[in-house]
Amino acid sequence: MCSSLFSSLSNFNSFKLQCCLFWVLIGVVSAQLSSNFYSSSCPNALSTIQSAVQSAVKNESRMGASLLRLHFHDCFVNGCDGSILLDDTTNFTGEKNAGPNANSVRGFEVIDTIKSQVENVCAGVVSCADILAVVARDSVVALGGPSWTVLLGRRDSTTASQSAANSNIPAPTLNLSQLITTFSNKGFTTQELVALSGAHTIGQARCTSFRTHIYNETNINSTFATSLQANCPFNGGDNNTSSLDKTSSTRFDNAYFTNLLSLEGVLHSDQQLFNGNNGTTDSLVSSYSSSSSTFFNDFSNAMIKMGNMSVLTGSNGEIRSNCRKTN
Ligand code: HEM
Ligand SMILES: *[C@@H]1O[C@H](CO)[C@@H](O)[C@H](O)[C@H]1NC(C)=O
Ligand SMILES: *[C@@H]1O[C@H](CO)[C@@H](O)[C@H](O)[C@H]1NC(C)=O
Ligand SMILES: *[C@@H]1O[C@H](CO)[C@@H](O)[C@H](O)[C@H]1NC(C)=O
Ligand SMILES: *[C@@H]1O[C@H](CO)[C@@H](O)[C@H](O)[C@H]1NC(C)=O
Ligand SMILES: *[C@@H]1O[C@H](CO)[C@@H](O)[C@H](O)[C@H]1NC(C)=O
Ligand SMILES: *[C@@H]1O[C@H](CO)[C@@H](O)[C@H](O)[C@H]1NC(C)=O
Ligand SMILES: *[C@@H]1O[C@H](CO)[C@@H](O)[C@H](O)[C@H]1NC(C)=O
Ligand SMILES: *[C@@H]1O[C@H](CO)[C@@H](O)[C@H](O)[C@H]1NC(C)=O
Ligand SMILES: *[C@@H]1O[C@H](CO)[C@@H](O)[C@H](O)[C@H]1NC(C)=O
Repeated sequence: MCSSLFSSLSNFNSFKLQCCLFWVLIGVVSAQLSSNFYSSSCPNALSTIQSAVQSAVKNESRMGASLLRLHFHDCFVNGCDGSILLDDTTNFTGEKNAGPNANSVRGFEVIDTIKSQVENVCAGVVSCADILAVVARDSVVALGGPSWTVLLGRRDSTTASQSAANSNIPAPTLNLSQLITTFSNKGFTTQELVALSGAHTIGQARCTSFRTHIYNETNINSTFATSLQANCPFNGGDNNTSSLDKTSSTRFDNAYFTNLLSLEGVLHSDQQLFNGNNGTTDSLVSSYSSSSSTFFNDFSNAMIKMGNMSVLTGSNGEIRSNCRKTN
């Protein structure tokens, strides 16, 4: 940055150095997340969140999946800024009623409970965006998946965008090249797309999200399609749900990838990752199916990267006192 700014002053080496040090320091002060962000301001934040996630998942195992998805749908829409948590009001349109979220995303009451518990231990310190990032990790761990160090220091948005939610969250009707483009536009490699899609090893999808795939498509095992049709009629039953991973929908494992190898992906978009053409994503699916440690490692790294998308730091944004509304 500095070298291009001052390239015409190339003789003034010490000036350039000072300039760069200045920007590096600003970066440290305001722009970067860090793992110890709350270690003095709220030392009990992480343990408070972890116990609350454990009890929510113990009460209802699907909740772990729902909470993980909230972080994804937050980050892909103008960054990880808690925007998905803002309620619609008469004079504010948020993201909850965007197409990919309406009648689909869930877990808001659990986030409310966690936020109030965290406010009780240190008021006005921990952002809703950070709570979502920690909750996503703790949910994966609670269901037997990998752990990773969550970087912290995000602040909460004062805005939300229903139109950005409609256009930035990938739809299950996308084909492989559209999925690759969607993730590439957000800075993710094809490998990261495949690793992150492994989140569908937990949780449920509604009939409306996979009806076309089980009635009108051929890249699905016909026995499997018939079994899903029992709970997803051609007409009606839009809200009936099926597990995204038929073998272990409440265990975070690599069975999602094994399912894809036998043409048992539930969503059209899932099966796009393995389409029998020996392409890049086919190899990745095979590799994750044969090594859960490779999957866990790549998933963890991709989650850290996802959690870093366009974050608000320093004095940008705010620390909401109620995740559902701006201060
Ligand atoms: C690759 C593109 C993706 C597409 C097209 C996609 C699409 C979907 C759809 C359609 C559902 C079912 C929603 C419903 O029917 O109500 C779903 C569920 C889910 N998604 Fe994705 N998703 C993608 C990537 C991701 C990523 C990257 C994550 C997290 C890292 C994720 C986590 C989940 C989870 C955990 C569920 C189950 C939620 C629950 O049971 O409440 N998805 N996804
Ligand atoms: C437990 O889960 C059920 C749904 O299975 C839900 O209705 C209930 O509110 C949950 N209870 C708590 C304390 O979270
Ligand atoms: C929205 O409406 C509420 C209630 O009418 C009011 O208190 C609030 O100030 C309004 N917010 C904005 C941003 O106009
Ligand atoms: C599905 O559930 C939502 C509420 O979550 C409801 O508004 C909608 O009418 C239901 N759709 C059908 C087809 O039952
Ligand atoms: C994917 O979908 C886009 C948009 O419908 C289309 O232009 C493209 O040809 C499709 N790609 C493949 C490989 O099917
Ligand atoms: C399946 O394809 C037929 C013929 O193109 C179409 O009429 C029908 O609406 C499709 N059904 C679903 C569930 O996609
Ligand atoms: C589809 O799955 C069934 C049940 O697992 C299996 O018996 C059958 O061989 C599979 N069919 C194909 C074409 O792979
Ligand atoms: C799914 O939807 C159909 C049609 O609305 C309904 O008859 C059926 O009972 C539902 N199945 C389940 C398991 O809820
Ligand atoms: C994929 O690779 C395998 C093993 O190298 C080969 O037998 C098969 O014909 C290939 N399939 C396609 C569609 O290229
Ligand atoms: C997070 O993003 C910032 C700014 O884009 C970048 O400098 C930093 O290296 C990223 N950190 C991680 C862990 O991805």
